[in-house]
Amino acid sequence: MYYPFEFSFSNPTQIVFGPHSFAKLADLISPKAKILLLYGGGSIKRNGIYDQVTQVLAGRQVVEFAGVEPNPILETLNEAVKLVRDQSVDFILGVGGGSVSDGAKYIACAALYEGDGWDIVSGKHVPLRAIPVGIVLTLPATGSESNSGAVVTKRATQQKKAFFASQAQPRFAILNPEVMASLPDRQLENGIVDAFVHVCEQYLTYPVGALVQDGYAEAVMKTLKTLADTFEQRHDNAWRQNLMWAANQALCGVIGVGVPQDWITHRIAVELTALWGIDHGRTLTIIQPWLLRELIEPKRAKLAQLGRNVFSLVNPSAEETIEAICALYRSLHMPLHLRDAEITDPDAAERVWQAVQEHGNAALGTHAEVDATKTERIVRAACS
Ligand code: NZQ
Ligand code: ZN
Repeated sequence: MYYPFEFSFSNPTQIVFGPHSFAKLADLISPKAKILLLYGGGSIKRNGIYDQVTQVLAGRQVVEFAGVEPNPILETLNEAVKLVRDQSVDFILGVGGGSVSDGAKYIACAALYEGDGWDIVSGKHVPLRAIPVGIVLTLPATGSESNSGAVVTKRATQQKKAFFASQAQPRFAILNPEVMASLPDRQLENGIVDAFVHVCEQYLTYPVGALVQDGYAEAVMKTLKTLADTFEQRHDNAWRQNLMWAANQALCGVIGVGVPQDWITHRIAVELTALWGIDHGRTLTIIQPWLLRELIEPKRAKLAQLGRNVFSLVNPSAEETIEAICALYRSLHMPLHLRDAEITDPDAAERVWQAVQEHGNAALGTHAEVDATKTERIVRAACS
């Protein structure tokens, strides 16, 4: 059956890749700009990235805001919004992982909006303007450095929510694989898994004859599987640069053009971070296997294709592919159930289910006709 690809695609982020890429920063930001240097909890001070970036920016007008949390908190980001306004900042340079990158996008939009910044995250206000953003990536995982999405948590209500703003998409992203030297194994494992699931969300639906999109998705997933299989080589530059590029390509938009997408794993998994602060990558491996088992029929053909083309299984069943995915996650020390993440709350499943319903994610439809009954079964299987 003919499935028309209908899309308009542009990814305007300039990627500057490689071990010498920091030096290019000087040319990427106007010398006249007043820059906000935004970063997280201080890893960049310990690993020397802060020194390298500030050296390149010597002589520029720079104000700093430190302390963006992992899974960035609205209340903290609003302090940076105030600083941006008070100091008339006109460029935001985020140096960090997905959290700093997402935080930069939020600040860029909120600083030019008079109302409550949560309006932007909740979708009540669609930002049409943003202060320009650039990113020096220190953790390959989310792809946030070259997409328009951002995920922000409101501490007061324990709501973690994504918004999209094309104006806040980074103008450039510096991808220097050497920054990965100081990453703990856990963050590398999280990064492989997050990128893998990003590809799944755009690929693991039903066949539509998308030869380019499927082929590219499979190439990225095979790369991630190879990196997991060769994890002992993680200190090699070749290993690092492949992860950095794969994670970027997984969510820069190109894989998903014109094809059906899903995103249910992410929509459910955010609640585990909102409730217990579990790392984003680890929330995905808690939910996804149960989701695939529940939705195995509508996803059967694509699961078999994935098993064949990514895991090199011979005539695999959908069930065998799910087991191969679980084995991949196990090899990366990922939890496959909420209890593996050391959450012992007896009401955990109920709390997740309540949150999923309150945030409007109980019946997402999609190709798999996901209704509240199916979602509840997924949540209870993964969390009780
Ligand atoms: O805070 P600092 O000191 O920078 O430390 C961070 C943080 O503790 C540390 N780290 C980062 N680079 C390092 C480093 N430590 C040593 N050496 C380095 N080079 O790593 C910790 C985790 O950082 P974080 O930025 O939180 O991780 P990640 O990149 O996984 O981002 C997760 C956030 O991105 C969102 C997630 O929901 C979560 O909030 N996502 C954003 C997406 C997007 N915008 O497209 C898509 C994703 O699906 C995801 O939802
Ligand atoms: Zn993700």
